[in-house]
Amino acid sequence: MPSSSSQKISQALEEAKARYITRNAKSKTLHEEATKSFPGGNTRTVLHTDPFPISMKSGKGYQLTSEDGHVYTDLTAEFTAALYGHSNPMILDAVNNVLNNVGLNVGATTPQEQLFARELCQRFDLERVRFTNSGTEANLHALAAARLFTKKRKVVVFNRGYHGGVLGFKGGMPAPNNVDPDDWIVVKYNDLDAAVKAIQSEGVAAVLMEGMQGNGSCLTASPEFLTGIQDTAAKAGVVFILDEVMTSRISASGLAGMRGIKPDLKTFGKYLGGGLAFGGLGGRADIMAAFDPRLATSIPHSGTFNNNTLVTHAGYAGLTKIYTPDVADKFFKTGELFITKLQETVEGTRLGFSGLGSILSSRFIDGDVELKDITSADDFTENEALKDLFWFEMLEQGFWVTRRGLIALILETPQSELDRFVDAVQAFVSKYSDVLVF
Ligand SMILES: Cc1ncc(COP(=O)(O)O)c(C=O)c1O
Repeated sequence: MPSSSSQKISQALEEAKARYITRNAKSKTLHEEATKSFPGGNTRTVLHTDPFPISMKSGKGYQLTSEDGHVYTDLTAEFTAALYGHSNPMILDAVNNVLNNVGLNVGATTPQEQLFARELCQRFDLERVRFTNSGTEANLHALAAARLFTKKRKVVVFNRGYHGGVLGFKGGMPAPNNVDPDDWIVVKYNDLDAAVKAIQSEGVAAVLMEGMQGNGSCLTASPEFLTGIQDTAAKAGVVFILDEVMTSRISASGLAGMRGIKPDLKTFGKYLGGGLAFGGLGGRADIMAAFDPRLATSIPHSGTFNNNTLVTHAGYAGLTKIYTPDVADKFFKTGELFITKLQETVEGTRLGFSGLGSILSSRFIDGDVELKDITSADDFTENEALKDLFWFEMLEQGFWVTRRGLIALILETPQSELDRFVDAVQAFVSKYSDVLVF
């Protein structure tokens, strides 16, 4: 990019930052207070934004209100978990029912957990399922089951894959806080030859992947890549684990259902808890038997809140009363139309959008890369300054989007707000056309 363009972006960014600081004075004060209790003032790294994060006061429906009094249309949807919005009456009813009639922390098995388990098994084609408290835990336990089943340790994963707080992969290697730093083979996403070679190598227990990388610009695995991995893993006796923590909302039966694949295990989380902390793993009964406490060979799978009454009721209500298969499939279409409109709006510019259904991401390409050559987040570098500028300007337009570009839709967001976002993107592209157009 010519230096005059870089200068223009830097200047626009400085001005946007200054306006942000002025508009969000209370958030700034709250952040300064927070640094006295939390390192860096926060307890969830992804929510840190320079110069300070915006502090939210409340959420209702599809909107959020900040401590500074600004109302946002929520296009973050709690990184996909807030599919049902912030106050869906069915979820509130389920929670109130637990508070008034069921009680918290019963410390025992319950019939409600069976109902929820049956619904998940049916919906996502699982022979057996287990619950956890997060997607991270779900993946950790799925890996434990795969290792027990195969008596092997290594796991094939994909660069820019994210499977939880201690299971992230970037720069071709596990993140520094990885739980098992030596046991990974990290392969480029959508590179089937490399994946096949890795899966067929010595000592591999599992291949763990997302069908769309939520942390990798929402680029999707090609259908051939998915089936190629499935077939290779089956032949090599390697457990194929599909991380559906984000993608299970893509269709009535998740990404696997939509693509017609049958992984050995799948992992879940996010919205499936109805807005409460949740994770799950399920699939083949012979592999899931790893957790059958009646078997001498089993391994423990514990977690105080695995079957907590709030989540088993709210999660069940969400799947059976709100996100029914019909609604899920309809919502996929709403999302696809939104993505198409955004792609048309930014055609020929450095700004791109990719995704599937109700989950998508923006990205700003640095350098000259053709769209057709982008199949993984390794294929381009991002212009961080443009990305930041976009974030500041969308906030000013009243859209709560993530700094890294991830966008996830809330069920009840009106079409008029989605259209307004497309218009805001159009205005951004026009305002910076001299910098953005290739
Ligand atoms: C694909 C994927 N897997 C796993 C996780 C981890 O889930 P949790 O944050 O519930 O631990 C996430 C979270 O963003 C995710 O996107």
